Amino acid sequence: MKFVKKSKKGYTPTKEGKKEGQSPPDVYKESKKNRVEFWAKIAREEIDWIKPFKKKYSQKKDSFSWFEDGKLNLCYNALDRHLKKRDRPAIIFIPENQDEKKIEISYKELYKKVNEASALLKKKGVKKEDIVAIYMPPIPEALIFMLACARIGAAHSVVFSAFSPEALRMRIQDGGAKVLVTSNYYFRKGKKMNLSKKVRKACKGLKIKKIVIDRKKAGKTFKKKNPKIIEPEPMNAEDLAFILYTSGTTGKPKGVMHAVGGYTLQAYTSARYIFNLREGERMWCTADIGWITGHTYTCYGPLLNGATTILYEGLLTFPKQDRFLKIIRENKVNAFYTAPTALRMFAINDSYTQKYKNNSLKVLGTVGEPIDEETWNWFFKKIGKGRCPIVDTYWQTETGAAVIASLPGHGPFIPSYAGKPFPGIEYTVINNKRKKASPYEQGLLVQSPPFSPSLIRGVWKNKKRYKKYFIGKYYNASDNAFYDKEGNFRILGRSDDIIKVAGHRMSTAEIENVIESLPKVVEAAIVGKEDKIKGTKVIAFVRTKSPISEKRIIKEVSKKIGPISKPSKVYFVKDIPKTRSGKMMRRILKGLLEGNEIKNTSTLINPESVREIKEIINKN
Ligand code: WTA
Repeated sequence: MKFVKKSKKGYTPTKEGKKEGQSPPDVYKESKKNRVEFWAKIAREEIDWIKPFKKKYSQKKDSFSWFEDGKLNLCYNALDRHLKKRDRPAIIFIPENQDEKKIEISYKELYKKVNEASALLKKKGVKKEDIVAIYMPPIPEALIFMLACARIGAAHSVVFSAFSPEALRMRIQDGGAKVLVTSNYYFRKGKKMNLSKKVRKACKGLKIKKIVIDRKKAGKTFKKKNPKIIEPEPMNAEDLAFILYTSGTTGKPKGVMHAVGGYTLQAYTSARYIFNLREGERMWCTADIGWITGHTYTCYGPLLNGATTILYEGLLTFPKQDRFLKIIRENKVNAFYTAPTALRMFAINDSYTQKYKNNSLKVLGTVGEPIDEETWNWFFKKIGKGRCPIVDTYWQTETGAAVIASLPGHGPFIPSYAGKPFPGIEYTVINNKRKKASPYEQGLLVQSPPFSPSLIRGVWKNKKRYKKYFIGKYYNASDNAFYDKEGNFRILGRSDDIIKVAGHRMSTAEIENVIESLPKVVEAAIVGKEDKIKGTKVIAFVRTKSPISEKRIIKEVSKKIGPISKPSKVYFVKDIPKTRSGKMMRRILKGLLEGNEIKNTSTLINPESVREIKEIINKN
């Protein structure tokens, strides 16, 4: 079936596309009338409450809340309420090794497993409001424990399994986690990745209880026929749902806090409207559960809608390029959601795509970084076969769910444009005078109050940092953007010292701190350089006291943060351009990398450094 047709600018939905869309036809008009009521109506009618709310939205000086006097449980909404359709698969788990069978877990089975896991957490002493760290590969038990935490009112703090022991330790300590749920190993690129060793290192000397899932039994643990049922904990809508650490500009990751009510509502609604999820639909979001995308569109979004989520353990192109298309075909995936970096990888030697019809696909999505037109068109033609809308979803760990995206039933789908703000949410662009920018004028992307239900409620143990998210009356997204005359937004990239490498969010300061901790190094500056596959790659400029090898520096970053952050190139320089107040001018370094002429160096205390660095770059 064809869901889109060509229009003046990009594509719009066909009749079938409109019919398939799960957002009401008048959703934009209706939601604009009263944004608070728009959300409250969905919350009332489509979310299950233990105690219905009366208060909808309120805002004070430094905080805001949704459904403050209501009580609900996220796990109940994701599981218990679907038990009528008990035999429908909730999770389809696909191990990387093709000799290992895939495992389907029905809603009924998942319900039992989550109850058993909840009992186990309780036995370990976990109570409401405690933090549970989860350091696991994408196997069903990761989702089982996330749901179990939600069930008993504990907040999970998931740590990406490729992060280093140091990164895990920092997150356990900052969060004050009582229990760590982990696995002994997992497979990636056919290799056995040892997690136990990293865990041992990370937890040395820490008082933390552990639950270790044997990878061999992935998807087959918690098999009791009649487990004890643990009643879902009634949570206030504003209680903490989970924390998730993300890179901050200061270099220390910050624990982004999400509230139960708003998160449940927006994960549900966005998954439904953007990916057309409902019972019987199958979604495959390729993001690891260690990132917010995995939280919202691998775990909660599909389950809140009673849909099926596909969980794949390994590399998308293993053992061959076409693995992901095989998975789509074998599992009749309807919504496929991935990152531009993955797409650019798929596009290398792409003749294999001709062998696949991809008939099951209805919606294609991308996230994490701006998608260039070429990649967009490749995705549209080679994977969607010109039939499916592409939803370029813009959002952040802080927003909890997608906030700018074209809806499949509405469109338009324009290459490189994310589209309109999600119904009930208002974004705008402001210029340096903090005035609303006109169409096509570039500026800072901000969200206007009333704030979206799943927007960040706090930074764990850091009130001051939370306040910094707001400028004037707005929430500051720290992204640059502009919008066209029809109100479609185009996202241009970060406005701060955060870079996105292969869609992963990284703080330049965090990498710099690691390099600077080496005794032979005086200082380091990190900048992003355009890369054909990764979108951006990490480049380091390093000033040393005594010689040190490039390899040693790369190794240190890998060890302290994780392989995703390691520099692709290290330039050893005599001096790093700085302003009189000592601020490193990463912008100038970036300009030099791009081969630009740097004209104005008058604000620099060491303008001669620019010429020297230019020579070094040219030589290498
Ligand atoms: C970037 C990921 C362009 C943006 C969900 C944002 C995007 C940061 C898009 C958040 C998109 C995300 N187009 N840029 N569709 N989606 N970004 O917290 O810079 O890992 O601020 O959340 O990713 O990254 P995070």
